[in-house]
This record gives sequence, C-alpha cells and structure tokens, in this order.
Amino acid sequence: MKAVSRRRFLKNAGKSGLALAASSALGKFGLAQGALRTTRVVIDSSRQIAPISPILFGSFLEHLGRAIYEGIYDPKSKFADSNGFRTDVMKEVHDLGVPIVRYPGGNFVSGYHWLDGVGPKKDRPTVLDRAWNTLETNQFGTNEFITWARQVGTEPLFGLNFGTGSAEDAAALVEYCNVAGGTKWSNLRRSHGYEQPHNVKYWCVGNEMDGPWQIGHMPAREYGIKATDAARQMRSLDPSIKLIACGSAGPFMPTYIDWDRTVLEECYDVVDGISLHHYWGNTEENSNDSSKYMAMNLAMDRQIDEIVAVCDSVRAQKRSGKQLFLSFDEWNVWYRARDGEFSNGHGKAAPHLLEEPYNLEDAILVGGLANSLIRHSDRVKVACLAQLVNVIAPIATNENGILRHSIYYPYAWAIKYGHGRALSLAPEGPGYEVATLGRPIESIGLAAPGFGDVPYLDVVVTHDAEKNTAAVFVMNRDLVKEQELEIAWHDLTPTKVLAFETITGNDLKAGNTFADPNRVVPQKLEKPAVGSKMTLKLPARSYSVLSLAL
Ligand code: AHR
Repeated sequence: MKAVSRRRFLKNAGKSGLALAASSALGKFGLAQGALRTTRVVIDSSRQIAPISPILFGSFLEHLGRAIYEGIYDPKSKFADSNGFRTDVMKEVHDLGVPIVRYPGGNFVSGYHWLDGVGPKKDRPTVLDRAWNTLETNQFGTNEFITWARQVGTEPLFGLNFGTGSAEDAAALVEYCNVAGGTKWSNLRRSHGYEQPHNVKYWCVGNEMDGPWQIGHMPAREYGIKATDAARQMRSLDPSIKLIACGSAGPFMPTYIDWDRTVLEECYDVVDGISLHHYWGNTEENSNDSSKYMAMNLAMDRQIDEIVAVCDSVRAQKRSGKQLFLSFDEWNVWYRARDGEFSNGHGKAAPHLLEEPYNLEDAILVGGLANSLIRHSDRVKVACLAQLVNVIAPIATNENGILRHSIYYPYAWAIKYGHGRALSLAPEGPGYEVATLGRPIESIGLAAPGFGDVPYLDVVVTHDAEKNTAAVFVMNRDLVKEQELEIAWHDLTPTKVLAFETITGNDLKAGNTFADPNRVVPQKLEKPAVGSKMTLKLPARSYSVLSLAL
C-alpha cells in the first residue's frame, strides 16, 4: 500500500492544471498534508465538467426472461391494472424516477419483427425468440411499452432490429411511431387506437452487431453502410430524432476500437452518438479479489476515454463540426447468472433467465460506476443500467410483491442527487496497488486498465445552482478501515446537511432475498458539521452520498 503518486494525482487532475491550483488551495485553506486515512479535496463551483444530462441514469427492459412478462406485464397478477401492467412495479419505477428506458433489446431486438407486437392482441403471433430460446407471445409490444413508459414518467429509447431487419423496416417503425398520420404506417398506428404520434426521440441503430452471438452479425464496414442508409431514411421521416450508432460490445472484443472507428468512418455524419456496453464481476478469474473488484469502475473511465478518442479522431479526419455524444446503454455487474442454463429459455415463455443475485460489494461497485458516469458528463449523455426488472436488475418480482436488490440503492441515489453540473475535482489522498489485470478476461468482458495506484476514495461532486444544492458521492474502496474526506469549499457555503447515507456492512457477500429483504439497505451516517471546511467519515467498504443545502 502506498499513497497515490504525484504522477497519478496530476494525471487525475485533468484538463487544465487544476492539480496545481488545488494544491495551493489546500494550503490556502490550511489543510494538513500526509495523514494516511485522509483524502483532501477543494470544491470550486466554477470548475465545471459539464451539465449532467437528465437521461444519464436510465435503464433497460428487454424481452428476456421475466423482464417484461411477469416483470412489468402480468395480466394474471393480483397487482395488474386493466392493461395488465403490474401496478406495484409501476409505482416503484415511477418513484425511483428512471428518466429513460431502452426497449425491446438487447440481443432480442436483432430477430424481432415489431409488426408482430402491434394491433389486436388476439391476432398477434407466438414466435420463438432465437436470441434467448424463449417463447414470445407478443402480448406486449411497441404501443404497450409507450403506454407503460408514459404512465411511469419515463422516456422511451427504442432499439432497432439490424439483424433480420432491413433499413426499410427501421424507417417503417419510425413512421409508425412519429408521423402524425396520412401515411401507410402512421395510419396503421391510428387504426390501432393511437391517434397521437409517440414522438420517440432516441433510437439505437442496432445492438452489438460486432458480436458473433448477435443475430445478423456483420462486418463493421457493412454495418456502417447500412446504418447510414437507415439513418437517412429515418431522418427524412423525422429530422428531430437522435440516432445512436452501434459501438463495440466492449473492450474484451478483439475488434474493440477498430469496429468503432470503421463504423464511424461510414456513418459519423448521420448519427448523433455511439453506444458503449460493459458488465463487470468479481469472478474466479479475478481470484475473487474484492480490492481489485472495487477498482473496476476505473475500467469504465478508461473505456469512455478510449471511445471519446475514437470519435474525436474520426471527427478530425472528416473535418466535421459535429461532436458525438456517448450512450453507455448497457452497464452493470453481471457474472453469476450468465451462461448455460441462465441464458437458455428452452422454448418456454417467461423463463427465469439472468436473475443475478446482488450483494454488498456489487452495490459499492455500482456506486463507483455511477461516479465514473458523472465525471464524464461532458461526453456521456445517455446511459442505461442494464437492466431494470428481474433480469440483471435492481428490482425483482414474485407473485407477492417486489424486492430491492442491493444495487437499487446507489442507482437510486444517482438519479436523486446526480443533477445540475458535475464539478472538476483533484482529490489527493492515499491509495493501494492493484496488479495489472491481464487483458482480456473475456468471460466478464473486463478491460485491463493497468490500474497502478488506486485511490481509496472515489469522489464526485454535483452542484445544482437552481436548487441551490450540492451532493458528494464517495466510494470507500478500503475494505478494512474507515477513511476521511476533508472538503474545503472554495466559493460555496453549505448551510444544512439534507442527507448523509451509506451502504456498507461486515459481509461483502451479503445480499437481499424475498425471505430476507433488508440485509443490505442504506444506513444514516452522523451528520458532519457544516461550514467552509468539512470532514466526512466514510466507513470501510462503503458507498455514501451527502446531500447539502447551500
Ligand atoms: O443485457 C443482456 C444482454 O447483454 C443484452 O441482450 C445484450 O445486448 C448484451 O450482450
């Protein structure tokens, strides 16, 4: 173990000599250097990264396992409303405030015919979904999803079938959803009882088309040409839509970066963003090493930086005035309920697939991943925790109700407190060594960031000038000891602690079940004295949030 090096501190400090400014500011505020368990940070509201996108903490619902059927839609449930929607799940998602939900896949979308899922339910065909070997009854489709989304107060992010589907099919769905009327597909929507257009703004142009597992998997150049054609057709129907090109399925792919570059060489001018996916896990390959696991959000930082570099390099090559945004539209912990029986529906409807159990260390890492998204607010404008209900999800259902898994809580805090602007920080404090992770650990898609020194505290701060609030999010990666965060407020003055909560515990492997739902839940921390200098005590193995009135 050793303190974070000067080299790393300067590197972390970012873009504009902030490290030096912060160092002298530390002196100015009279903060002592050198205590082994103390990290120091100066917060200056003029040092802004960017406004945080209101759709940074979205989620994802795929026709997979029990996400839709038995998850959000279950006409036989005692909780069902007249649409067949589970009202308990709707309330939970509404109260959570999920801003955007990606639908209907995922791998599923690459074999999905959207026409099978619209019109009178009795006429809809039952088909075999080849992505998950599952019986798909099509009783829930485009219009049901839009109705559900509006009722829970979330925005739809639609995925398009680029596997078996053509560019024409994609354009037809845009016409069905977004054109007011007077054309073939818009009239069909009206005949289905939806007079008003759905006005779906965000569209994923395919899913993981670089993956050999994907239905219709194709080479990057071919995908880029097809995406360009589809984008032009879609935009002619609705110029206001935002299109997200299908980026690499993750750093574990042998074609990582090459795929993204080639795709963007073809379609840069006609898309608005590019997708990123990544799942993490504390696997056997990782030697079940929790210290290393706690550092894995740094792999997300690195992945974002790498994809930004590709986007901007293609931009420079094209002399384009346009900058792309990043859509991290699949991110989560996922490594236990992953392969074999966990992903084979055996031709049944609503099978139990990918029902990952979550524990304390997963929740702490999910908090760290939320931190990584916040500190990349300048480029990541859309992101989706994958997924929302039952399938690798914060919320699980059974016939009697719902369960909040441990990861629910850091995700909820990100939504609740991650607004306003992300501030640029240069925290200085102790850290620990993590041996370089060999690339690739393919089964979990883990990139090898070559971590080097890992700070014990991972800190991000948001400032909402309109609401006059700030929030400090801190992951304590120290598995043994409490750590302190000394904050010097440069120009803001906290007046009141609105909340100071943590997720922690003695057992990193403890998780919530229907039988024992409260093993990992937020705990209140003793409120620190407010002032221009504040000290936070962060328990070992924790993720915490401090919400302040200014
Ligand atoms: O989210 C589960 C699956 O993970 C999605 O269907 C796919 O896009 C990814 O590989």
